[in-house]
Amino acid sequence: MKDLYEALQDYAASDWYRFHMPGHKGNLQLMQDIYAIDITEIDGFDDLHHAEGILLEAQQRAAELYGSEETFYLVGGSTSGILSSVFAACRRGDHILAARNCHKSVYHAIELNQLVPHWLFPTYDSSRGIFGSVSPESVKRELEKDPDIRAVILTSPTYEGIVSDIRTIARTVHEHGAVLIVDEAHGAHFGMHPQLPENALSLGADFVVCSLHKTLPSLTSTALLHVNGPLADRDRLKKYMAMFQTSSPSYVLMAGMDRCIRLLAEKGPALFETYMGMVEEARFRLKQMQALHLLDGTETSPGCFAFDRSRFTITTENSSLSGNGLYAAVRERFHLQPEMAGESHTVFITSPADTQEGFTRLTDALCSLDLDETSRERKLSGGENSSVEIQKASGEDYRSAEFQNSFTVQNIPAEFPNPETVLLPGQAVEETAGEQVPLDECTGRVSLDYVYLYPPGIPLLVPGERVTQQVTDRIRLWRNLGFALHGMKDRTGRLLTVCI
Ligand SMILES: Cc1ncc(COP(=O)(O)O)c(C=O)c1O
Repeated sequence: MKDLYEALQDYAASDWYRFHMPGHKGNLQLMQDIYAIDITEIDGFDDLHHAEGILLEAQQRAAELYGSEETFYLVGGSTSGILSSVFAACRRGDHILAARNCHKSVYHAIELNQLVPHWLFPTYDSSRGIFGSVSPESVKRELEKDPDIRAVILTSPTYEGIVSDIRTIARTVHEHGAVLIVDEAHGAHFGMHPQLPENALSLGADFVVCSLHKTLPSLTSTALLHVNGPLADRDRLKKYMAMFQTSSPSYVLMAGMDRCIRLLAEKGPALFETYMGMVEEARFRLKQMQALHLLDGTETSPGCFAFDRSRFTITTENSSLSGNGLYAAVRERFHLQPEMAGESHTVFITSPADTQEGFTRLTDALCSLDLDETSRERKLSGGENSSVEIQKASGEDYRSAEFQNSFTVQNIPAEFPNPETVLLPGQAVEETAGEQVPLDECTGRVSLDYVYLYPPGIPLLVPGERVTQQVTDRIRLWRNLGFALHGMKDRTGRLLTVCI
């Protein structure tokens, strides 16, 4: 059996093209001899948690590039930056306003710091399975309802590339004396080209977390935490960054971040000009598709303030494919590895390390699948099978003979569930009276666990919430579509619940 290194080498040498993170794509290599430079905090090489020398200068270079007052290197991904900034902004038991489509790390911070959460539900497009922007009005409304809210946290851009109106939201949050944390994990490249959205930092956020590794040429788990303004408590932040990260940060990761920042400072404009040229050409071709749809933020639903044009999110609501089906199809037939699939969409991550060949392979593959789908739809509308209702084709189905002959329609619950909170997440996870209950018997009981798909890691159910029929319907839908769910206790789909 191959070991991990051998398996990775095989992948690197194969014809697979990567439309997933990390953003260097195995293509833009900014360092060599990784073993030779892997050291620890020896003399002359500073200490990330008390940076005064070479690491301080490196972080200052990042701050200058992004225009922040202070920027900190993270070696534990955006996850560690989100945990640290929530802990910096909120004391134990404080009230926090969080967008419900936040990454699981936000929920973990709420759980660990025993915070009282209020949820913001962005609009949701059920046919595409995509959340829209967070509206400034909804933020204002929630802040007026509870003057004790200390911090507001939201994700912008989303995994699918949807951006919120951070400028107005920041103004609103500050008028209420709260702190704004923006999870910009997928937007480390924002502000690098006029066709890309501005970064949240320049729009007034106090803490901004971005994953360098997702969209820029940087190694996996590297990220930055930017801080601006008087509301961000730097001392608390530093304390928690040291707690939530290793005391031995990798010099390979940090050197890689510095290389990435230097590349952007020296060659960023030219690099992004070429990259965005390829992006726009690919978008132009993909806009001609008929059955598949390239998201561009102009759709009336789910409502989008701005959009990241470098993110290729393909929605499948007018085709026979589920998001998972499209994911499997591009893998099987074209050796393209997407980043992730949702109910009715598939996400392809692009970056300045992508090549023209990569973009051509992506557009050829999607146009070819679109052609198949369009002729299938034509046959369906003229054929005798048009009234037959069959499940959406999932990843598993794609390979099956039945799939090749199946015509499909959607059966997706209209709304993203908003379950009642019975216990605070921090209380629910400490509950000892839980039992594992089959999914069919969960309705009405209180979940003691999270249930989510990873990626994207947005919980459908949070500890302490009452399970509803809507929740169990969606769990069943996800399982039918072939997704692996986190949080279910076993393969038969038992949930850890408590009866209250
Ligand atoms: C919106 C969002 N925030 C935060 C994270 C965590 O980022 P990281 O993997 O850098 O820890 C992710 C990961 O996918 C994410 O999608």
